[in-house]
Amino acid sequence: MVHPIVKYGAEVLSKVAEPITAYDKQLQKLVEDMFDSMYAAKGVGLAAPQIGVSKHIAVIDITFGKDPDQKIVLCNPVIIATEGKQTEEEGCLSVPDFREKLTRPMRATVRARDAKGKEFTMTGEELLARAFCHETDHLNGRLYLSHLSTLKRELIVRKIKKLTKAGEWA
Ligand code: NI
Repeated sequence: MVHPIVKYGAEVLSKVAEPITAYDKQLQKLVEDMFDSMYAAKGVGLAAPQIGVSKHIAVIDITFGKDPDQKIVLCNPVIIATEGKQTEEEGCLSVPDFREKLTRPMRATVRARDAKGKEFTMTGEELLARAFCHETDHLNGRLYLSHLSTLKRELIVRKIKKLTKAGEWA
């Protein structure tokens, strides 16, 4: 089931999400809904708070659904190592139509549990490293905007406020 994406300004996006404790049918349904919602929104990553669910789980697929083997589920993810730097444009489904250049690690290793509760570690490079960092941030109540300079962030926030006033941000 496709859920609408929660946008910047919603409280759920700035809260630390609750840890996953049960790997049950309800969680499998949430995972399915998250992939559906992410593909519908044409994203490469989605954290549960972005569909209004304050739980510590994110999904990633940098192939946009082209390769089912590349689907990644991260329950309670923690970034345990990073290496190098990359500077690329980054965006977020919760901050649509904005993109900014942002420096992230070139490689990031995440430790998490999969949808069945099995622990794993995985190292991603380039876009995947960026996604690991971006989605883990979401679960800690942090948007990529918080990594920008104050000036850049305030410019975006001001534009969003205008859009909100005009009823074009909901
Ligand atoms: Ni995002």
